[in-house]
Amino acid sequence: MPSFTSSPAWRALLEHRDALAPERIDAFWRADAERGADLTFGCAGIGVDFSKQRVTRETMELLAALARERGLPQAIEKLFTGERINTSENRPALHTALRGDEHVAVDGVDVLPEVQRHRERMRVFAQAVREGQWKGASGKRFTHVLAIGIGGSALGPRLAIEALTPWADGPQVRFVANIDPAQFDDAVRGLDPAATLVVVASKTFTTQETMANAAAARAWLAAALGPDAVAKHVIAATANEDAAVDWGLPDCNIFPFEEWVGGRYSVWSSVGLPVAIAVGMPVFEHMLAGAHAADLEFRSKALEHNVPALLGLIGIWNRDALGMASHAVLSYASRLEGLPAYLQQLEMESNGKSVTADGAPVDFETCPVVWGGTGTPGQHAFHQWLHQGTDRASCDFILVAHPMGRERAQHEALLANACAQSQALMTGVAASEAWRACPGDRGSTTFVLPELDAFHLGALLAIYEHKVFVQAAVWGINAFDQWGVELGKKIAGQVLPALRGKPADLHPATAHLLSVIRRIGESG
Ligand code: F6P
Repeated sequence: MPSFTSSPAWRALLEHRDALAPERIDAFWRADAERGADLTFGCAGIGVDFSKQRVTRETMELLAALARERGLPQAIEKLFTGERINTSENRPALHTALRGDEHVAVDGVDVLPEVQRHRERMRVFAQAVREGQWKGASGKRFTHVLAIGIGGSALGPRLAIEALTPWADGPQVRFVANIDPAQFDDAVRGLDPAATLVVVASKTFTTQETMANAAAARAWLAAALGPDAVAKHVIAATANEDAAVDWGLPDCNIFPFEEWVGGRYSVWSSVGLPVAIAVGMPVFEHMLAGAHAADLEFRSKALEHNVPALLGLIGIWNRDALGMASHAVLSYASRLEGLPAYLQQLEMESNGKSVTADGAPVDFETCPVVWGGTGTPGQHAFHQWLHQGTDRASCDFILVAHPMGRERAQHEALLANACAQSQALMTGVAASEAWRACPGDRGSTTFVLPELDAFHLGALLAIYEHKVFVQAAVWGINAFDQWGVELGKKIAGQVLPALRGKPADLHPATAHLLSVIRRIGESG
């Protein structure tokens, strides 16, 4: 398929961009009082306001035309119906089936019964842990969960548990992702092994970091409770059941999910067990329901009103027409502190690619740098760069209408700050002293969640998943593989023996760095 840059719809968009160029976003507002209503859309109860972006109604129509020209509606159907859209790994990407109730066939077999069976096992187990029927080896109730996993096997569950803190009335969950042993030591400090359940989440059950931390957890449990305690204290969420059995787990401790669930799309599967244990399965299922509601809208709505589609398309507009290499996620909810890290993996691991799905080099820019933080603390840190820096970032503001804490006045101040920031980025300010002037004309999208609850969290994450899908479809890249990650893993495998004093064929730069590490280590 030829690149989207040669399509008539993209050429029309570039002409449109040039026609808009003399005007500031602010001027669009003066020219069109209906702009706010026209450029705000809903999805699963979340309002998404695009009116502070450098777009008009016409831009939206031209972007929708581009998406149609690139076959987005057909691509959406392929996603939901289980076609093998992950071409380099020859798999479907069916995370939507984990939260839906539609029948979907893979290789002629309906996946729904198996998905429901897995969910039922999760429900029974999460409840048994929460109610103290599944106990530790010495008969103690579990007060803590040590959740071991990295990347998609950690970021989603961690974000969900933090976001849903008011519902987290089950065992407390601590996460260990890093191979840095300090993180494991810090996580188990103060924990009673007899009252700790270890959840090892790994799609492959081979990831170096996770397997090292799982081994550390086994040793930690065995030292306190004896080797047989593992069967009561360790469970696995994985697509590689055989590896979990080889590791020493009984079948009933293994909560499988399907190969067609990508790691960064796996929070909806048994990888979400720590969430279900912390907040209860009914709350976890509200999260699935919110994601499903967003799925239904994504699949059925016209592109011109389709929030995930518009979000992805405006991302392409900002990246490829307006040249923005950076995208900031600004959550005005302290419980969403984990959102930028989650979206970093979702967007950058999915769409950080330089070749199309056919292997041809791209002649356009793909995923921007995704970063961010929470408001208002970010205002006292990096927002200065957003307002007056030489580079420009597109911004997503995430707001929650209902107070998340007891003090309503503080919540009002939080919202006032969020509104002020997006306005200030857009309007800027003129000043006689150059250093006071803010150029403005910096675009943003604002999400408004009615509440930070499981349903809307699920919907928000699904909207972003589909944003990534839309962009990949228009760019013509495969969002579901991550071959770039493999190179570093391979080289680490070569360096490790050398660090342990064994002969290794190292690049001179790495051999030099190892000598520096040794020298500094010996002198310290
Ligand atoms: O970073 C690469 C990656 O494969 C991610 O896609 C994945 O989420 C993470 O590693 C963890 O993989 P696993 O769940 O197989 O341990």
